[in-house]
Amino acid sequence: MLKLEDHIRLIPDYPKPGIQFRDITPLLANRVAFNIAIDKIVSEVTHEGLDAVAGIDARGFIFGAAVASALGLGFIPIRKSGKLPGNVISESYDLEYGQDTLEISIDDVEAGQRVLLIDDLIATGGTALAALKLLKRCELDVVGASFVVDLPSLGGSKKIIEQGTAVSSLIS
Ligand code: PRP
Ligand code: ADE
Repeated sequence: MLKLEDHIRLIPDYPKPGIQFRDITPLLANRVAFNIAIDKIVSEVTHEGLDAVAGIDARGFIFGAAVASALGLGFIPIRKSGKLPGNVISESYDLEYGQDTLEISIDDVEAGQRVLLIDDLIATGGTALAALKLLKRCELDVVGASFVVDLPSLGGSKKIIEQGTAVSSLIS
């Protein structure tokens, strides 16, 4: 039986010395593994009453848009700064190997929408927490956060749960 973890490549010292980088490219390239990953995310979430899927730039777009399509829902892109035209709000954060800023387009969401947050991986949780803050500032109801890979030793998923958001992941 196919194991999703067999399709994650470990790259030592990328993008910086000391980082054990989990590369999802082999999983994306394998049609069975990729589609199993999407099906599993879909089957693990409570989609009743869900209005949209939000995904984090860039790898979260790959899984988030596929899950949104499978659920028949729209997609909210949470983008790195300077990429979204129009009215945006921003959150800056630290991640495992740097700093960055995420933005959301405030004209394309409605207060009260029930949203599932998706990214490929959670490490320190800096990225996912920043995305969660943006969604909450828009008064969206984040019903859960799903990741393909969780690196629990870096503490990110615990931080999301502490915010009151349910977390699911396919590989830990
Ligand atoms: C990676 C990954 C997550 C984030 C997790 O994104 O896709 O979004 O790091 O790290 P954290 O839990 O420590 O915050 P990256 O910023 O490398 O961007 P990319 O998706 O454009 O490759
Ligand atoms: N994003 C943050 N930490 C990461 C890691 N170790 N591998 C892949 N993506 C990451």
